[in-house]
Amino acid sequence: MKISSYIDEPALAAAYPSHVVELKARHDRALERAGANHAVIFSGAPRGVFLDDYNYPFKANPHFISWLPLIETPFCYLVYSPGEMPVLIYYQEKDYWHVPPASPRGFWPEQFDIRIVHSLDDVAKHLPVERDKCILIGEIDSAAHAFGIERVNPVTALNLLHFQRGVKTTYELECMRAASRRAVKGHRAAAKAFNAGKSEFDIHLDYCRAVGHAENDLPYGNIVALNENGAVLHYQHQSQVKPDEHRSFLIDAGGRVHGYASDITRTYAKTDGEFADLVKRFDQLQLELVAEVRAGVDFADLHLLCHVKIAELLNETGIASGSPEALIDSDVTSAFYPHGLGHLLGIQVHDVGGHMGDDTGTIIDPPSGHPFLRLTRILEADQVLTIEPGLYVIDMLLENLAGSPGHRMINQSKLDWLRPYGGIRIEDNVRVLAEGCENLTRDAFA
Ligand code: GLY
Ligand code: MN
Ligand code: MN
Repeated sequence: MKISSYIDEPALAAAYPSHVVELKARHDRALERAGANHAVIFSGAPRGVFLDDYNYPFKANPHFISWLPLIETPFCYLVYSPGEMPVLIYYQEKDYWHVPPASPRGFWPEQFDIRIVHSLDDVAKHLPVERDKCILIGEIDSAAHAFGIERVNPVTALNLLHFQRGVKTTYELECMRAASRRAVKGHRAAAKAFNAGKSEFDIHLDYCRAVGHAENDLPYGNIVALNENGAVLHYQHQSQVKPDEHRSFLIDAGGRVHGYASDITRTYAKTDGEFADLVKRFDQLQLELVAEVRAGVDFADLHLLCHVKIAELLNETGIASGSPEALIDSDVTSAFYPHGLGHLLGIQVHDVGGHMGDDTGTIIDPPSGHPFLRLTRILEADQVLTIEPGLYVIDMLLENLAGSPGHRMINQSKLDWLRPYGGIRIEDNVRVLAEGCENLTRDAFA
């Protein structure tokens, strides 16, 4: 088997056993909360397309992925009972239409009591007999997949597991470093394709080739935006038409390793000049925010600090004028920067638990006026999150300011200058440390 250059396989193998130990401890507590004896975690079932006999790409249950580096194995069940070796009911369908999942191999099988089954009927034999003492975790659309387990996704257990998933184990950190390294290969290829004057579609293909992901393997749809398109936050097209001129390029694209994601954005100017200088200045602003990351920081405060920094930048560049307080209070910064500073990252790109104040389900709402902030927790060591300030010309939002004090603070001719470049976002993935952070993305670029 080819070991990819971005994966440190020995480090993963060395870290995996203690990852499983940690998961057992978390599930012990989750079961205690739920008053149950067994956690049964379903990998998931493929979902069919309406009126068709094709399925959507399979997306495994993130709870299942947290135990196992298996992202392409539907109808598997992981059974955890405290004090016992977890049982993996591994579904290898006898199917001549498709390739069945490969036999278990790699660094993970020795942690499990693996029972290979070839039909769903055989799953039942390997499940705990006392079904009323089980909880089932997963997306259950058919009673046939529940095997008589009635307690599905109890919130007491899920709250605890979701809160704790915010803090990554050594194994998960290693997967995520590798996911950053994987994505950086694509970012380099994409930057090259942009400089060569390619279309968004061709840049996207170069990215996919370099990371070795087909479209469906990406952690999220690539955002590949030339010129004005950079102002669309989740720009979803990849135009096959080359624009007349390449001015700017915003790419937000990641990679996955064993189900763990990276989520990286870079913005480029085609030529030296004022926009290139603005991108450099924005990169500094982003690094200043990264420098504030450490355990104990309230992420909502960091998001608000970002607004102050954006206000200062708007002043400095002449895009708007006014004190930071005035620019923030009059919604000018929110018009230029209408999303959150970042979010937890892990198996899901916008990972679970970002608004959880504790493991019992207490919710911390985003500050008023900042509904899109996905992370409101106090930062803890070994959380992984994104730091992604942005600055865009979004006319829909700027028009909302018409007639307000904010409108008068904006320099329209400067806005007209910036509009053809779309916007700027710089996004890194960082691991919180007691003091400071580890920047997975900058390390991968280095
Ligand atoms: N790629 C989506 C985000 O940055 O949150
Ligand atoms: Mn992000
Ligand atoms: Mn992103």
